[in-house]
Amino acid sequence: MDQKKVMRSHSSPWRGLAARRRWCQAAARPTTVLVIAVTVFAPLLLAVVLFGFRVTPSGANSTWVSAGVRVVLKAVSDQGTGRGPLATVPDPSDRLLGGLLSPDFDESSCLSRYSAALYRRPSLHAVSSYLVSALHRYESLHRRCGPGTPAYARAVELLRANASFATSSSSAAASGSSCSYAVWTPIEGLGNRILSITSTFLYALLTDRVLLLHSSGDDLHGLFCEPFPGSTWILPAADKDNKDDFPIRGIEKLTDWWHHDSLGSVLRRGEDPGVAPWLYVHLRHDYTKDNRDQQFFCDDMQAKLGTVPWLVFRSDNYFVPGLFLMPRHEAELGRMFPRRDVVFHHLGRYLFHPSNTVWGMVTRYHDSYFAKADERVGIQVRRFYWAPISTDDLFGQILNCTQREDILPGAAGGVPATAKGGSTAGGQPGKQKAVLVVSLHGEYSEKLRDLYHEHGAAGGEAVSVYQPTHLGSQRSGEQQHNQKALAEMVLLSFSDAVVTSAVSTFGYVGQGLAGLRPWVLTSPVDKKAPADTPCRRAATIEPCFHAPLDYDCRAKAKGDAGRRVRHIRHCDDFPRGVQLVE
Ligand SMILES: *[C@@H]1O[C@H](CO)[C@@H](O)[C@H](O)[C@H]1NC(C)=O
Ligand SMILES: *[C@@H]1O[C@H](CO)[C@@H](O)[C@H](O)[C@H]1NC(C)=O
Repeated sequence: MDQKKVMRSHSSPWRGLAARRRWCQAAARPTTVLVIAVTVFAPLLLAVVLFGFRVTPSGANSTWVSAGVRVVLKAVSDQGTGRGPLATVPDPSDRLLGGLLSPDFDESSCLSRYSAALYRRPSLHAVSSYLVSALHRYESLHRRCGPGTPAYARAVELLRANASFATSSSSAAASGSSCSYAVWTPIEGLGNRILSITSTFLYALLTDRVLLLHSSGDDLHGLFCEPFPGSTWILPAADKDNKDDFPIRGIEKLTDWWHHDSLGSVLRRGEDPGVAPWLYVHLRHDYTKDNRDQQFFCDDMQAKLGTVPWLVFRSDNYFVPGLFLMPRHEAELGRMFPRRDVVFHHLGRYLFHPSNTVWGMVTRYHDSYFAKADERVGIQVRRFYWAPISTDDLFGQILNCTQREDILPGAAGGVPATAKGGSTAGGQPGKQKAVLVVSLHGEYSEKLRDLYHEHGAAGGEAVSVYQPTHLGSQRSGEQQHNQKALAEMVLLSFSDAVVTSAVSTFGYVGQGLAGLRPWVLTSPVDKKAPADTPCRRAATIEPCFHAPLDYDCRAKAKGDAGRRVRHIRHCDDFPRGVQLVE
C-alpha cells in the first residue's frame, strides 16, 4: 500500500464509529479476556479478586461489551499492609484509562487522547492510584511553573543572572518555592526520542522538575498534542532579535560529553555542581566512557543537583532503568509502579497523544484495512548495518517465527485462495487476519502478500497484508516523515499480537503502547537467522536501556547494572543493555 491510500480522506465519523463497534466486538470476546487475565496475573502469586465482571450483550447494537470490569489486587508481596484496593484495571470503555488521563482537556483539540483506547485491546495492566495522584501533582506543578507564568519568568531571570538556588539571594529561592526544570533536547529517530522524553519525564516527576522540550526546527511540530492541561511542554522558541531570549545559547549544539557545562566536565574540573545555574546532562550512549558523567545516577550527586535550577538533557536512550538503580527513588517508584514492567506502557499512554493530523492518518488506515479483521497481527521489520542478513533469510525467519508460534497460518498447499472461499470444511466462515507490516523496506510485505495470494492460508483463514509506507531510509528531521512514523507506531499498538525486530526502539514504542510482550526476531549470527529459534517471546513489555551505566556508585568502581537490583536484568534482545522485569 502506498501513502496515497493512507491519505485518502473518505472516512466519515459514522464509518469510524461502525468500525470501532466491530472492534469492541472482537476485543471483548469473553474467553479471550478471561484467559488473558488468568495467565497474566496467576504467576504473580497475587490473590486476584474478580467482582462485578460481566460480559453482556448490550442489546441495541448487539455488540459485546464487558461492563464494570474491576480487578482488585491484594498484593501478597506487599506484606499485607492492610491498605485497600491497590489498583484497578480500567474498564475498556473508561476513556480516562483508570485515572491516567486528565479530564480537563478539550476533546476536539486532540481527538486521539480519549479515543485511542477504543482501538486497542483493553489494557490489562493496573494503574496505581499513587501514580495517578503523582501525575495530578505534577500537572499542578507544570501549570504553576510552565512557560508564561511569573514563576517561569523568574527562573529565566535567575538563569540570565547566572545564579543557582545555592547562590541566589532571592527569597523565592530561599523559601524553596521556585521552580526547576528538566529540558529535553532531541537526538536520533522518533523511537529514541519518545523513549528519552519518557525517561526525562519520569526524572522530572521524581525530582519535582518541570519537563520542557526543546524543539530545534520543526521536528516535534505537528506530532503530539500537549500532555499537560492548561500549559505547554514546549520550551519557548529562541527569537534572535529578542533580548528576552532563552539565556542558554546554542542548546542544539550540546551534544558532547566534553562540553564545558556538562556535569562530567564540572566534576573533572573539581568544581561543585551544586552552584551551577544550569548543567548539561550528557546521557548519549557514549556517556559511559567516563565515570564522571555516569555519576548522574548516584544518590550523592542527585543530592547536589537539587540546587541546580536548569538541567538540560540529551540522550538517545531509555534511561528509566537507571532511575530504578538510585536508592533514593526506590520506595517512590515502587509505589508508582507496583509492577515494574509497565512503566513505559503507562507513561507512554499518558504523554504521547498523536496530533489530529497523525490521528487522521491512523484512523483512515485502520478503518479501511483493519476494522473488519477478527485479529490484527503487527510485524515490524528493522535491519541494522551491524546485524546483516539477506532479505530472503529474514523473510524465512519471519515465516518460521509466525508459523511456529501460531501467529499466522501456513500457506495452503497450492490450492488457490479463491477455490477455498475463505471457509473451513464445516462451512463456517474462516477467521480474518489482517497483517500490518511496518518497515522502511517494501519486500517483506510484498512476499507475504504474494504467499497468501498464490496459495491461500491453511485452515480456511483469510490473511490480508498491508504496509502503510516504505520510505527506504530514516529521515528523522522531517515533519511529514515523523508523522508517518508515528502513525505506524500507533497502528502497531492496535495489534493483537506483535512481532518485532530485536533492538528496535520503534518496536519498543509499539509494544509498549499496546501493553503486549512481543515475539522478538532473533538477531542474525553470521548473517543467518538461528534456525532453531527464529524468535522469542520477550520477557517484558519494557524497552531495553541499551547503554546502561557500568559504574557502581556504592563501590565507586565498575559494576554490572544488570545484577544490582531485583527488577533489572540484562535484555534478551541486546545482552549489553538492561531492562525492567516483574
Ligand atoms: C557563572 O557562575 C559560575 C559559578 O558561580 C562562575 O564560575 C562563572 O564564571 C559565571 N559566569 C559568568 C559569565 O558570570
Ligand atoms: C526455517 O525452519 C526450517 C525448519 O526448522 C529450517 O530448515 C530453515 O532453515 C528455517 N529458515 C530460516 C530462514 O530460518
